[in-house]
Amino acid sequence: MVSAIDDRVKESSVDLSRDSGRGNWGAWRASVSLAIGVLVLGLVAFKLMLPSEATSSQPAPTRTVFVTPAPEVNKAAPPSPSPEPVPPPPNPESCAEVACVALTFDDGPSAYTPALLDKLKELEVKATFFDLGQSVANNPEPVKRAAEEGHELGGHSWNHTSMAKQTPEQACADADRTARAIRDAAGVETSLLRPPYGTWNDAILHACANKTFVLWDVDTLDWSTHDVAKITAHGVDDPKPGSIVLMHGTVAETVDALPGIVAGLRAKGYKLVTVSELFDSPLAPDQAIYSGPRTGVPAG
Ligand code: NI
Repeated sequence: MVSAIDDRVKESSVDLSRDSGRGNWGAWRASVSLAIGVLVLGLVAFKLMLPSEATSSQPAPTRTVFVTPAPEVNKAAPPSPSPEPVPPPPNPESCAEVACVALTFDDGPSAYTPALLDKLKELEVKATFFDLGQSVANNPEPVKRAAEEGHELGGHSWNHTSMAKQTPEQACADADRTARAIRDAAGVETSLLRPPYGTWNDAILHACANKTFVLWDVDTLDWSTHDVAKITAHGVDDPKPGSIVLMHGTVAETVDALPGIVAGLRAKGYKLVTVSELFDSPLAPDQAIYSGPRTGVPAG
């Protein structure tokens, strides 16, 4: 009897234990399911709380970044100041750019003219001769030689009569006659005229409309002093850029003074040229000039 009861208790215990085990498993599963659900809900809620580009109604803030290229810096060597622009060298052929002086000889041709031409040739100087028509007609050879050796020729009246003592028509006829004598002797046409004594007026100038009156701004006074040292001093010290220097082909001392004058002017940087070469363009008639442009700078 007791054993029967024990068996039933055991059986009951077994059943109870089975029931008890089945109940624990279900509760565990329910708990896990609940935990997962809570976790999922939590994740969903957390997701909804986060700002999202896709879900946010506010436009995403934009930011513009300006990028300026950095200047290229030569780190190898510091920048050096740009050098001063170098002006081009002066044109040695233009008396507007280099200082020029024109040597002129009046009153020839004379017995001294061949020696004068020899000296100019030796010194390699081109000069300008203002000749008397009467002397040209009587002694054409030095005039022809002067032209052949590159010197410039002009008239100085027929026989050194002052133009102011003649009517304009007479003075101009005298000048034309002299120009024809030069043409006949040397084969060159000249429109240059040096009035004797440097005397002229507007009526004469305009009457001789085909002539350019060439005066001077430096007088060596060779006709007065006949002194080589004084002639040389005037010839070297007095000229400025563009100067026209008055000398005479009838003064022996002038021939002797010439080498010193040429050397002195060249040492000061002057280029020695003919009267026309003082100007970049051909000399226009119906004007009186005392010098060329003062614009040249010494070349030496
Ligand atoms: Ni004269």
